[in-house]
Amino acid sequence: MRLDKYLAERSGMPRSESRKAITKGRIMVDGAVVRKADAAVAETAALAVDGVPLAGSYQKNVYVMLYKPAGVVSASRDKKDTTVVDLVAGSFPRRELFPAGRLDKTSTGFVLLTDDGALAHDILAPAHHVEKQYLVTLDTPLTEEMRRGFAAGVTLADGQTLAPAAADPAGDDPCTVRVTLRQGVYHQIKRMFGVYNAGVNTLHRESIGGVALDAALAPGEWRELTDAEVERLKNRIE
Ligand code: URA
Repeated sequence: MRLDKYLAERSGMPRSESRKAITKGRIMVDGAVVRKADAAVAETAALAVDGVPLAGSYQKNVYVMLYKPAGVVSASRDKKDTTVVDLVAGSFPRRELFPAGRLDKTSTGFVLLTDDGALAHDILAPAHHVEKQYLVTLDTPLTEEMRRGFAAGVTLADGQTLAPAAADPAGDDPCTVRVTLRQGVYHQIKRMFGVYNAGVNTLHRESIGGVALDAALAPGEWRELTDAEVERLKNRIE
């Protein structure tokens, strides 16, 4: 990677400032002053500014667990509404984060934000079978017909047949259901229950690929995934 880019990402300086600092001889790479902004450096190189080492190591990608509140849209930018990226972008000014999988505007729960395009693709590709779990409240009790239909693969009103999914009772309320999907079709859960004339009142994503939404997060809050959680996600990709 170019030194000016690497320095900007590691230090948080704007790229123009990082270039100036380099040409003035303020930057050391692995103990030696480097004055060329376009010098190639390894992503493991140690940096010092004015002789003071920069702490931490370079993070190739960022993985954020966001508790999406209702009313926020799952997009990077939107003319009218607050987006999931707006909620975290201020903390990652030099990263192009995007949501790896969408939730409807009214839905809540776990949205994974990342700049790792390859991982996002793998999580979303139906062939990789990454499980997502949702807690759903219906306007009618869950029936055996729905459970069997979900397990066999629901055929939507437009004729599209979906992959097998699970709909299980969640607790004592017969209208509260835990749904497990390995696919991500637009409005999928609402359309699946729609086949049985059941309406969805609330929809909350609890987990992605075996990584659960942190119970300590309130709506609108986020934290970075731990290394172990990133590993778990990567291992769930078949
Ligand atoms: N299915 C839906 O219908 N909505 C969501 O937000 C997620 C899955």
